[in-house]
Amino acid sequence: MLEIGCGVGGQTVHLARASPEAHITAVGRSPESLAQARARVAAHAPGARVEWYCADLFELPFPDARFDHVFACFVLEHLSDPGRALTALRRLLRPGGTITVIDGDHGSAVFHPDSAYARAAIECQIRLQSAAGGNALIGRQLHPLLTQAGYDGVGVRPYTVYADQTRPALVDGFTRHTFIAMVESVRNDALAAGLMTADDWDRGIRDLYRTAQAGGTFHYTFFKALAVNPSGAATTSSPAL
Ligand SMILES: C[S@@+](CC[C@H](N)C(=O)[O-])C[C@H]1O[C@@H](n2cnc3c(N)ncnc32)[C@H](O)[C@@H]1O
Repeated sequence: MLEIGCGVGGQTVHLARASPEAHITAVGRSPESLAQARARVAAHAPGARVEWYCADLFELPFPDARFDHVFACFVLEHLSDPGRALTALRRLLRPGGTITVIDGDHGSAVFHPDSAYARAAIECQIRLQSAAGGNALIGRQLHPLLTQAGYDGVGVRPYTVYADQTRPALVDGFTRHTFIAMVESVRNDALAAGLMTADDWDRGIRDLYRTAQAGGTFHYTFFKALAVNPSGAATTSSPAL
């Protein structure tokens, strides 16, 4: 299995635990993150068979058809040409091999109480990611991207995260510490780019935190796609997601 953009190894641990027999090749671009990933896997999935490579996904040193499966989680949304990446990764898959792609879509964020300021703060994150060459709305595009890259049997499944006060672990772990933290992290860039005033930004973030208080609700959708590298014979059915 080839994991692209493994970062600090959060998904690598899950992959190794879920498939202890698998030989995993994990690729990342940052040596520092790779070192953290290595330590994380050693601590949380001892005995996992992982080889580590520091490389760009567009310049991977592997022969054609080397892998049975490719896994890319939260990577495509950072690429300026995700279609070219999917085509390049298809070369590395054996005929009949499969690919899993997971990405979010910030357009799926809906919440209560609603707030134009909170929506504007989220929009800043979307625009900044776009200016950096990425796409924070890519989840909805996984099906056409994989199809256009030549994959067969493309199946996409949405995974909804919904948090209200009856789910305090999700309110804390997702609404506060994942989504709002991610939006908050672009404050300086958003203000420097003149996308919002500091007062409006701070009100937007305050309003987002209100969705994590009693009476507030927050919804977000991730998209998980599974597809097959054609083996020559037409594939008509989708693999199980
Ligand atoms: C948001 S992180 C996701 C990390 C990990 N997949 C996870 O889900 O925890 C995105 C990762 O994609 C990597 N990445 C972005 N562009 C890349 C490229 N062209 N080649 C290889 N890795 C890339 C980044 O270095 C980063 O580690």
